[in-house]
Amino acid sequence: MIGRLNHVAIVVPDLAGASANYRDTLGATVTEAQDLPDHGVTTVFVELPNTKIELLHPFGEDSPIDNFLMNNPSGGMHHVCYEVEDIHAAIDQLVSEGARVLGDGQPKTGAHGLPVVFLHPKDFAGTLIELEEVAAA
Ligand code: CO
Repeated sequence: MIGRLNHVAIVVPDLAGASANYRDTLGATVTEAQDLPDHGVTTVFVELPNTKIELLHPFGEDSPIDNFLMNNPSGGMHHVCYEVEDIHAAIDQLVSEGARVLGDGQPKTGAHGLPVVFLHPKDFAGTLIELEEVAAA
C-alpha cells in the first residue's frame, strides 16, 4: 500500500539556524521559509536526491507542534510521510486492520495541497505516520 518516502519532518526551535545548518554544514539545497497559517507551522524543505526533509517551526498561537517543542526543546523527529495512490482505499484497509486514523478519520488538505491523514503513533512503533495521496507515477 505505501509507496515512496515523501519526507521526514523535524521540529526545530530555530528555523533560520536549522536551515543554515543544513545548507552550510551539510551542504544541502534548502527552500525559503514558508508560513502556512492554516496549519500553524512555518516550513523549510531540504531537498535531497531521493526524498525531502521538512523543517517545522510553530507559526502563530496554538500551533499543533507547540507541545512537541515544549517536550523536546532542542527539536526532534516529528513524523514520516509515505505516499499512497488512493488515500480512501488506504484508510479502509488500515481501519480494517485495526489501525487508528487521527482526527475524524477523513483526509485533510496537507501542507503540500494534497490529501493527507495521520496515523496513531502507538500503532506504529511510536512513530507518527502521515500518508499523502500523490498521483500514480
Ligand atoms: Co508532513
